[in-house]
Amino acid sequence: MNATPVVTSSLAGNILVLAIDHPPVNALNVDVRRELTAAIDSAEENAAVAAVLIVGAGRNFIAGADLREFGKPPAPPSLPAVCNRIEACAKPVVAAIHGAALGGGLEIALAAHYRIAVALAKLGLPEVKLGLMPGAGGTQRAPRLIGAAAALDLMLSGRHVGAQEALALGLVDRLGHSDDVLGEGLAYTRELLAARAGTRPTRAARALVADASAARRAVEAAREQTAARSRGLFSPLKIVDAVQAALDLPFEEGLAFERKSFLECLDSPQRSGLVHAFFAEREAAKAPETQAAKVRPINSVGVVGGGTMGAGIAVAILQAGLPVVMIERDEAALARGRGHIERVYEGLVAKGRLNGQHKDAALARFTGGTDYAALSQAELVIEAVFEDMAVKKAVFAELDRVAKPGAVLATNTSYLDIDEIAASTARVSDVIGLHFFSPAHVMKLLEIVVPARVAPDVVATAFEFAKRLGKVPVRAGVCDGFIGNRLLAVYRTAADYLMEDGASPYQIDRAMRDFGYPMGPYQVVDLAGGDIGWAARKRRAPTRDPRARYVEIADRLCERGWFGQKTGRGFYRYADGARVGSPDPEVESIIDAERERHGIVPRHFSDDEIVRRLLAAIINEAANVVRERIALRPLDVDVALVHGYGFPRYRGGPMHYADTVGLEQILADLRRFEAEDPLFWQPSPLIIELVLRGAGFSSLNGGVS
Ligand code: NAI
Repeated sequence: MNATPVVTSSLAGNILVLAIDHPPVNALNVDVRRELTAAIDSAEENAAVAAVLIVGAGRNFIAGADLREFGKPPAPPSLPAVCNRIEACAKPVVAAIHGAALGGGLEIALAAHYRIAVALAKLGLPEVKLGLMPGAGGTQRAPRLIGAAAALDLMLSGRHVGAQEALALGLVDRLGHSDDVLGEGLAYTRELLAARAGTRPTRAARALVADASAARRAVEAAREQTAARSRGLFSPLKIVDAVQAALDLPFEEGLAFERKSFLECLDSPQRSGLVHAFFAEREAAKAPETQAAKVRPINSVGVVGGGTMGAGIAVAILQAGLPVVMIERDEAALARGRGHIERVYEGLVAKGRLNGQHKDAALARFTGGTDYAALSQAELVIEAVFEDMAVKKAVFAELDRVAKPGAVLATNTSYLDIDEIAASTARVSDVIGLHFFSPAHVMKLLEIVVPARVAPDVVATAFEFAKRLGKVPVRAGVCDGFIGNRLLAVYRTAADYLMEDGASPYQIDRAMRDFGYPMGPYQVVDLAGGDIGWAARKRRAPTRDPRARYVEIADRLCERGWFGQKTGRGFYRYADGARVGSPDPEVESIIDAERERHGIVPRHFSDDEIVRRLLAAIINEAANVVRERIALRPLDVDVALVHGYGFPRYRGGPMHYADTVGLEQILADLRRFEAEDPLFWQPSPLIIELVLRGAGFSSLNGGVS
């Protein structure tokens, strides 16, 4: 027996109250499972007990299984056995829910005979987000209780529902009137006893059989949608299969089917990737500076520049409830900036994501001007003007002049040297990079770029600010492109080499989509606008290593004015403003001509070879990024690429993926490619070192595998 019990029992009259007391969130580890089972046994044996009430101590009912137990063989009793034990109890069992009842926590509640929730309860089966499915009867009990359609929605979206919705769905029987979950639970249980309500196993609930044909239609619809929307994902289809089993099989057989499918999910690399992504995000938010330094208060924010990024950043900040002052060059540009912001809000209202009142309240927090004096009270100013060092320095000179002492001065630059920007001011220690991604009010990634001389409390403040905005922060050091854009550059270069050597852009895009990216690299170029990359290439031309191979195909397209979607042509053709392009034979002729000009005889590349090369390029450069401490840990790279660059989350990120492939394999690939182009494919010393040590990138993650 555990020294400190994690399930405490106490008698309230003839009701045995079982309180799960396993801080911080009452996760269902082996001790909780064991003690809960023993408590149900003793409730049954004790003649003084008429009913059992299960509650959570602290702020939650039960937030879920203990994720850290997933790596090991589960110690008995298993969670399904605990749920079955609760359901089989000969005396009525009531679950009183406050806070989180998620995953295994909700499965425990579903195994109880009656459920009551108080106002702030959050119920859900979010296993799908970790590549899993409910594995303790949830897929069998939930459809029987609330019907197939609602259960599928819960399990496939992984969303949380509040108490009101849970009541409407039939997930709970009662809403408590107050926040006193114990008092409400006891009152409800007494009422049930007074009404002589008996046990009521959820396995006998009739929502599925009540309308079996509707249930079948729901399963079919979910199967179709899941195949389309969750392409490449393993667990969503398993969830649909399990609900089908709930329809077709007796309860016990359905449970066995669920268990088998759950274990398959548990074993899948996707589960490992998604769990890694989950922990990596939490860890990335804990940069060293956040541990010690105190944060500066941020109650008002200035944004300089109202273009694509400035407007998006302003919306992200307004959405967090903060006031924003925007500075632009002139009234016309300011009006355009304001117009941008209004359009974003109108879009949100049109899509039903926001009501008109909320929009008006947000816009009321927005002011704009052309005089920097308006920034004198701002505690944080984010610069998002043209990507040009001279322009940026001029803006920072103004900020230096007007900003109040201690204000944090941030730049949204994509590539420029932030140390140089900082050094141009008299307040180097207040200057930091806040690199948002487009569209800034949507994309979750925020690279927090830390210049050499910034004060630690400014870094801590930036992390706190990211949290307020609901962003996923990643700490990056100063270099050309920081973490994300630096890796994007090698990915694109490797793709260009493949294209010139024989693969078509369409095959490359398809191979990367099949790997799990939402779009291939050339679709992304067409979406972002080929002119942006073209301008950057021209800017860099003078400093490019003359030994480096340079592929000119994209330049040939740009010279024709083919900038992608916005011009109707790029790597693809977009008929009549279509958003999905079709392959263009003329582009293929241009590629052929370029190959010929360089004396290249096109080779065949398999899709697998394409993926191997592009991933090897990313992983190799990422290893250098870690070695140079631009990223402090491999997991920071993983989080950046998953949240800012479409890297498939279920693969965990490029570093986690490299570990699953094995670094020896990655190094062998690099050596093979190195024979063709020793400059581009030179293996990172970090990979060589790790292979020699027999270690993976995860060994550098400080405990997060
Ligand atoms: P943009 O060209 O859409 O907007 C720039 C805005 O800055 C214009 O409205 C311009 O009038 C204004 N501006 C220029 N000089 C100014 C000054 N001295 N004072 C006040 N306003 C001034 O450019 P975009 O795309 O918004 O980029 C802005 C910054 O964000 C750049 O540093 C860029 O590298 C960076 N960035 C861009 C991303 C993108 O996807 N577009 C992604 C992440 C960062």
